[in-house]
Amino acid sequence: MAIQVEFQWSSRAPGVWSSRMGGDPEDTLLSIAGVESRSEALKNMGDTQFPFTGEVKVEQVKGRMVLRFPLGDDEKLYGLGLQFQTIDQRNKAYHLKVDHYGGKDNGRTHAPCPFYVSSKGYGVFINTPRYVSIYAGSANRKDSPNPPEAKDRNRDRTWKAHPDSDYVEVAVETAGVEVVVFGGPTILDAVRRYNLYCGGGCLPPKWGLGIWKRVPSLYTDKQVMNTVKEFEERDFPLDVVGLEPGWHSKSYPCTYEWDNERFPEPGVLCSKLMEKGLRINLWENPYVSPEAPIYEKLLPLSGTHNVWCGIVPDYTLGEAANILKEQHRRTHVDIGVSGYKVDECDGYDRWLWPDYAEFPSGHTGEEMRQTYGLQMQKLTTEIFKEKNQRTYGLVRASNSGGVSFPYVIYNDYYKFDDYITALCNSGFSGVLWTPEVRGAKTAEEWVRRCQVVCFSPMAMINSWASQMELWSFPEVEKALREVMKLRKRMLPYLYSAFARYHFEGIPPFRAFAMENGILAAEEGETDGDLDDTENPYAVAVAKDVKDQFMVGDCLMVAPMLPEQEERDVLLPRGDWFDFYTGEWAGNGQVIKVKPGLEKIPLYVKDGGMIPLMGENNTLSVQCYGDKEGRFLLYDDDGETYDYEKGKYNLVELATTKDAEGKRCGKAEIKQDKVASSYEGYQFRFMSGKR
Ligand code: GAL
Repeated sequence: MAIQVEFQWSSRAPGVWSSRMGGDPEDTLLSIAGVESRSEALKNMGDTQFPFTGEVKVEQVKGRMVLRFPLGDDEKLYGLGLQFQTIDQRNKAYHLKVDHYGGKDNGRTHAPCPFYVSSKGYGVFINTPRYVSIYAGSANRKDSPNPPEAKDRNRDRTWKAHPDSDYVEVAVETAGVEVVVFGGPTILDAVRRYNLYCGGGCLPPKWGLGIWKRVPSLYTDKQVMNTVKEFEERDFPLDVVGLEPGWHSKSYPCTYEWDNERFPEPGVLCSKLMEKGLRINLWENPYVSPEAPIYEKLLPLSGTHNVWCGIVPDYTLGEAANILKEQHRRTHVDIGVSGYKVDECDGYDRWLWPDYAEFPSGHTGEEMRQTYGLQMQKLTTEIFKEKNQRTYGLVRASNSGGVSFPYVIYNDYYKFDDYITALCNSGFSGVLWTPEVRGAKTAEEWVRRCQVVCFSPMAMINSWASQMELWSFPEVEKALREVMKLRKRMLPYLYSAFARYHFEGIPPFRAFAMENGILAAEEGETDGDLDDTENPYAVAVAKDVKDQFMVGDCLMVAPMLPEQEERDVLLPRGDWFDFYTGEWAGNGQVIKVKPGLEKIPLYVKDGGMIPLMGENNTLSVQCYGDKEGRFLLYDDDGETYDYEKGKYNLVELATTKDAEGKRCGKAEIKQDKVASSYEGYQFRFMSGKR
């Protein structure tokens, strides 16, 4: 028998409400992540209305909490973590569980965030470290006030295999759960509130936004230096070198100690790289080898089950976290290591600990599974933060609560178009995703993958197994050099976008559905029959746009797939311009483009401004279109946490027209707290005429 649960919403910040339903939950995702919400920033967003007018119902059903949230006929639902194939999650059922992605959007993924956002502009977050089942407008109850009509499949062509229901149902096997609701009014506003509530987005160090190269697993220090030399000789930019398992004396399980033969003098290697302005990142997984010097100390602080014969420490215990932190600090960070790639903390079931595994803190195997990636991100970030040093790294598992950790998710699944969709989806859930490049069968595939990764949170080539180099296909070497250099030049733009992630919660990489104008245009335009030839724009808008995404405020990326010479690009309402030439590209329409192998199609909004690194540290500001533009340029020392104490610069770049209609640009300092990285500002007006 279902037992009705009474509950009340209380205001947590303007536009944010929460409720603890049923018994008190012991821990939440946010308490395990140990993050604080950014109250000032939430306050600055102002208040908004509580989104639900219909009733939210909560019941206890045989050991489960079952929550029911109203859902309108025309609502779309986005988010629910890092999904790879679909954008609109309505009419689906997800069982959210940390796992290696297995090729299906079913809830098992690297960041199964229990947060959804509706096209009506509100979000719902189930703040629990338990598995969460979400029936996103798919479960139909017989007592529904607005049930779908029963139809005859024999005669009625409108019959649906999955009739729409009028609520989202959520089930969690627990006696108590915390729910947080975020108001809008737009999708982006709700996502911003969620991001800020979860601690605000991370701000990577500047070097993190450069070019990353991971070398083959068993490379030695000499081979690493040879790789660096070859990058220099071939005039390819490089900022971070990643070492894979072979730097450990033993891996799977890990010792976290350097291998004396391959890396006899790790400190010297780090210094040599630092002299060249390069950083070093170390691969690890969390399973501690019996041969690790910290094994004995961690043994009593670990769970009942081993992974790859290594113990699984319970890092919710401060004592366990301190042991690993101290070892990492002394052996890696103090000699110059800049960060970690935390691998294998996601799944699969057959090698991870089972749900009934026991851990000394009392957390269940299930709770540890959902939060292990968060725990690793937290403790490794702390090592650097305690030294007032920023880090940027990789992790294969995260969850809600990881928004502020400077980590990017990657995986072994390698389907290119799905990698792009994941990039679109990542912004709904407060995670960063890299479509890392590992190998390719053809030069075309190589160049297309490298182009996309340059417009992602981490521009990384991972040659741990493939031994591939950027110059492996000579016919595209030049094109790759160009796009890598463009990525480097984009730093001021990207860095400012990340600053907005941190300060305002705005995701730097966003799906189209989050852009103003797209959904508005959809209403009314998609009524009636959609015709691909008569009205391709409405058709494109009505579908999930999962192969185009926004970077920052005004740049849109429409990647090419291998073997695709031509593609359709959806240009939302408003004028759009070609990034490279400044030519008008279209307005509220679908265009066909054929960019050749050298270029990835990029478009800029009317009035858009893209500040690029120019010669001699000048900033070259590319201005597009006819509209007056404004861009808030963010700058700081690029590597410490001093920005948290207000030590940063803000410069407003703006374009206007003089009395004769001639366009001009100006830079106005709004805040000036550190030495500027730029010698001056040059405005470049891209030919913006129709
Ligand atoms: C995989 C990981 C790869 C690579 C490899 C090393 O699990 O996804 O990127 O690091 O381990 O063994």
